[in-house]
Amino acid sequence: MDHAVFPGGARLRPGLAMGVAAACDASVAPEAQADVAAAIELLHCASLVHDDLPCFDDAPLRRGRPSVHAAFGEELAVLAGDGLIVLAFDVVARAQLEPVLVPKLVRAIAQGVGAVGGLVAGQAWESEQAVGLRTYHKAKTGALFEAGARVGALLAQADAEPWAQFGARLGEAYQIADDLRDTLDDTASLGKPAGQDMVHNRPNACISLGIDGALARLRSLLDQAIAAMPACRHPQRVVQWVEGFGARLYPRAVRPGINGKPQASANQPVLADLRA
Ligand code: FPP
Ligand code: MG
Repeated sequence: MDHAVFPGGARLRPGLAMGVAAACDASVAPEAQADVAAAIELLHCASLVHDDLPCFDDAPLRRGRPSVHAAFGEELAVLAGDGLIVLAFDVVARAQLEPVLVPKLVRAIAQGVGAVGGLVAGQAWESEQAVGLRTYHKAKTGALFEAGARVGALLAQADAEPWAQFGARLGEAYQIADDLRDTLDDTASLGKPAGQDMVHNRPNACISLGIDGALARLRSLLDQAIAAMPACRHPQRVVQWVEGFGARLYPRAVRPGINGKPQASANQPVLADLRA
């Protein structure tokens, strides 16, 4: 379980939860806010452990290290994922929160992860013959971002629904960027196997929209997120967070270099092929 959670990735989803709570001036103790945000990250980590298993993506590498099943075997990887799911809800139950808030938070988190529209549903779509790109992305990736924004709002006693819409757009942006990186970046810079959507015959925005179309869609979703941001005490902080989030999402192959041109990447031939 430790191997799955530390040293960790960009921690975007808990960052979103705490960012929304801060933007709305949440008065809940920072430690309790961090507990709730951590629950979202624990579920994300659990989902990656299971996603890497041989029955799904069979990925040997995650965050530049052996995936959990590659390091400890399949049985312990299944159990580590299970343990992380339980721990996530335990952390929320033990957080120093107003009792009335706990079921609302549990429900919001469960909605992001569950089998009805959450990431379990998103993963299940991969076992179907055909799936719409947006339905699949919304459940597999968007739902947990939605949950992150929703719990941030709940912590501040703000209206959660408009913030969930804001989170959903960031989730969609993240997934488009993930497709771009899977297509354009190499395994060394990703820290996980590249080109997996093609290998597993999965929907990928670069195939349906083309590289330039996917890049335009990414920018448009970030702009839409900012436009959809509900009124709050510190809107400028949220805009900054979204721009920082966006900057981290761009694939290395098309990230502007010092002269404004895309940087060189091991996968440049793929970029040329797809552009053609
Ligand atoms: C990464 O996708 C995987 C997910 C976003 C969700 C995976 C969900 C499950 C395995 C369902 C089980 C859920 C829990 C909570 C244990 P990807 O393969 O497109 O991305 P990657 O390149 O990072 O592997
Ligand atoms: Mg995967």
